[in-house]
Amino acid sequence: MEGKNIVVTGGLGFIGSHIVDELMASNNVTIIDNLSSGKVENLENPDNDNITLIQGDLNELDLDEILKGKDYVFHLAALASVPESVEKPLYSNYNNLDATLKLLNACKNNNIKKIIFSSSAAIYGENPNIPLKESEPYMPSSPYAVQKAASELYLKSFHESYGLNSVTLRYFNVFGPKQNLNSSYAAVIPNFISALLTGKQPVIYGDGEQTRDFIYVKDIVRANILACESDYNGIVNIASGKGLSVNELYPIIKEVLSSDVEPKYLEERLGDIKHSVADISNQSNINFKVDSSKFKDQLKETIRWFRDNL
Ligand SMILES: NC(=O)c1ccc[n+]([C@@H]2O[C@H](COP(=O)([O-])OP(=O)(O)OC[C@H]3O[C@@H](n4cnc5c(N)ncnc54)[C@H](O)[C@@H]3O)[C@@H](O)[C@H]2O)c1
Repeated sequence: MEGKNIVVTGGLGFIGSHIVDELMASNNVTIIDNLSSGKVENLENPDNDNITLIQGDLNELDLDEILKGKDYVFHLAALASVPESVEKPLYSNYNNLDATLKLLNACKNNNIKKIIFSSSAAIYGENPNIPLKESEPYMPSSPYAVQKAASELYLKSFHESYGLNSVTLRYFNVFGPKQNLNSSYAAVIPNFISALLTGKQPVIYGDGEQTRDFIYVKDIVRANILACESDYNGIVNIASGKGLSVNELYPIIKEVLSSDVEPKYLEERLGDIKHSVADISNQSNINFKVDSSKFKDQLKETIRWFRDNL
């Protein structure tokens, strides 16, 4: 992708900043971020001439004005925390659904060529039909998941009603450099790494047989760009398609860190889903494929970042 005018909402966050770092070399990138969890330091080169930073809330800014002359929108801004959405359902709805609808309306008004939306595997809830296909029903069990599901439906309706092109990407467990340690997602990887780096005993909740489908943040960046460049409109799971149990994950991290510390097992956490693995056959619609053989190298890169930044 080159020479395009692009808006990245949430471009100072964990995933959004990686997208900006990639796009800024050859595109004009406008970031909209209210700094609620994002930070300027997440960007590799915040002073790059190709970056315009608009600090503000999607709900308060004049989006019709900001989107004038833009080609594409990557929408990542959200209150990306399930527990916080349970504590503050109205506030998370304001950030995750009201803001999305307002943004979609501005995309329609400005004839944006395509919007790529960051959704979540949370919309599948406790669905036991592993691996999970995009055609499975919505089974949200938190306000956050409801807000993502409703946003997805708004995207679909804006395509049908106004011809606004869009792809919804449902991320599974994302990990990588810049991940917030307070994040409730895939916290298991940063938690294990930070415990081992700071001499603490890592904790496994439950029997450790719960499976997760891990995906590296740079693969998420690739998926966003491929989805934007493709002719596809619809929903795609973004995951590796491989379930890894927490008991299988721990020895890999331990080995990479040359540690011999054993984990401590605590009682299962309320609301933890037992298995989460994606069906990835739909990824071919956007020419996306994950190379699972790189998992260890990706972990090493993540560990290097935590070592330098903890
Ligand atoms: N990290 C994961 O594992 C994961 C998994 C599934 C889906 N997602 C989704 O991916 C997206 C990015 O997640 P992340 O992990 O980078 O989260 P993050 O919290 O690091 O990034 C979100 C960014 O949005 C900004 N923001 C929040 N509300 C805003 C508003 N109203 N107006 C303007 N800016 C606002 C924050 O300041 C932050 O920079 C989110 O939509 C999240 O729901 C993330």
